[in-house]
Amino acid sequence: MIKELVEHIERGLLPHLQIESVNPLNPVVVRRVPPSWVLLGAGNYAAVVTHPDFEEWVVKVYAPGRQGIEEEAEVYRRLGSHPAFSECLHVGERYLVLKRLRGFTFYTCLLRGIHIPKQAVTDIDAALSYARERGLHPHDVHGKNVMLEQGRGKVVDVSDFLKEDPCMMWDDVKTAYHRFYFPVFHKLPIPERLLNMIRKSYRWLGKSSRYRTGLGKAHSARENREH
Ligand SMILES: Nc1ncnc2c1ncn2[C@@H]1O[C@H](COP(=O)(O)OP(=O)(O)OP(=O)(O)O)[C@@H](O)[C@H]1O
Ligand SMILES: [Mg+2]
Repeated sequence: MIKELVEHIERGLLPHLQIESVNPLNPVVVRRVPPSWVLLGAGNYAAVVTHPDFEEWVVKVYAPGRQGIEEEAEVYRRLGSHPAFSECLHVGERYLVLKRLRGFTFYTCLLRGIHIPKQAVTDIDAALSYARERGLHPHDVHGKNVMLEQGRGKVVDVSDFLKEDPCMMWDDVKTAYHRFYFPVFHKLPIPERLLNMIRKSYRWLGKSSRYRTGLGKAHSARENREH
């Protein structure tokens, strides 16, 4: 199966998929997806697609010039098999084949008014503790990198888990969840414009607090991207 999928990717997908990182602080721009392939999402580094003949898997294709595939593959090696994480089946020159996670990112849940239960937050906490036990450092765990799948929480993007510098993002997501989301918003769709405003203010506040704590220098370009 894997041989067939890799052939499909290298002949049918990569030569025709057009993605570009226009601004490193924003998601990659996907200009063309070849027929039959379906775009599932785009982050600041990569586009993620799937094919109906191999629907249990996704292909995460890094945009030209974006680094980090080897590091992400190494994180998956260390994670092994765990219900709250994907797994890496194959590492290509500019792509990874990952197990598909179903459901919606927390970000999409907020947009659509899909209720995020406390269980999903607890699942992600447990998954991040497991990652720490494996010598990893959970990083960049924000609303587009976690998913809700049938009431359970999953971590969809582990690409920065080798970085050792501290990251408070998941703690901040949890604080927002307990203070605002659960008591006020939990069944209300939140307009994208409002979510974007929150995201940008968070980035601004994060930057200024980094300067205050002197962590500014330690943070790489990958860290400063917009979410
Ligand atoms: N294994 C998966 N199964 C299903 N969907 C996925 C999977 N991996 C990624 N996605 C979707 O694709 C989107 C982008 O993937 P991902 O977050 O890994 O990219 P990235 O460029 O590393 O992101 P970031 O900007 O956070 O670094 C995710 O937000 C999610 O919607
Ligand atoms: Mg991501």
